[in-house]
Amino acid sequence: MEAHTETRLLEGEEEIVGKGSVVFRIREARVEDMQQIIRINRAVLPENYPEFFFHEHLRHFPKAFIVAVLKGNVVGYVMSRVEYGWSLISKGLPLRKGHIISVGVLPEARRVGIAYNMLLRAFRALKYVYGASEVYLEVRVSNEPAISLYRKLGMEVISVVPRYYSDGEDAYIMARQLGDGL
Ligand SMILES: CC(C)(COP(=O)(O)OP(=O)(O)OC[C@H]1O[C@@H](n2cnc3c(N)ncnc32)[C@H](O)[C@@H]1OP(=O)(O)O)[C@@H](O)C(=O)NCCC(=O)NCCS
Repeated sequence: MEAHTETRLLEGEEEIVGKGSVVFRIREARVEDMQQIIRINRAVLPENYPEFFFHEHLRHFPKAFIVAVLKGNVVGYVMSRVEYGWSLISKGLPLRKGHIISVGVLPEARRVGIAYNMLLRAFRALKYVYGASEVYLEVRVSNEPAISLYRKLGMEVISVVPRYYSDGEDAYIMARQLGDGL
């Protein structure tokens, strides 16, 4: 029974009723989604990547590259990868870490739970498909919406990286363990 639940949450399309009874779907990204994912990235974030970078992540970590579909259109994405290295939480322990590379939701689709549900799905894939035992990301210290979102998902500020961004802004490194109960 439990295995069935995990499979349902890790693969394919899920229909979610968000805030205000807004219905959206989340699923793994497909190559056909890529142009829209890149458009969203350019529309909502100053950190823009070349097209091959998105394709590399889709090829290597497809189960943790998630999109949201609202009224037939892709309106948000989460792109992730897995790295092997020192734990950010349990010092001195080498392990697999999920790294959330980029998250974006179009302005007209915000505050209904899309980013929250995409990230939860990515966390589950990072843990159960790719064997990560923690997840981390960088976020601008001024990005209060994103910081609130990550706190709601159980992430905490671990450290500050001075002048991490190209315009000189600092980044918080936020992380959480990927324990049971995801
Ligand atoms: C940050 C972002 C991804 C949030 O997407 P979203 O789909 O609107 O987020 P959700 O609806 O899932 O929000 C979940 C929780 O996050 C927090 N949150 C999201 N947007 C918020 C805002 N504008 N102000 C305060 N808290 C916010 C809240 O705790 C919210 O829960 P609540 O609605 O019950 O209060 C979206 O605003 C965005 O794309 N921003 C521009 C790109 C960006 O900053 N990406 C992150 C870079 S690190």
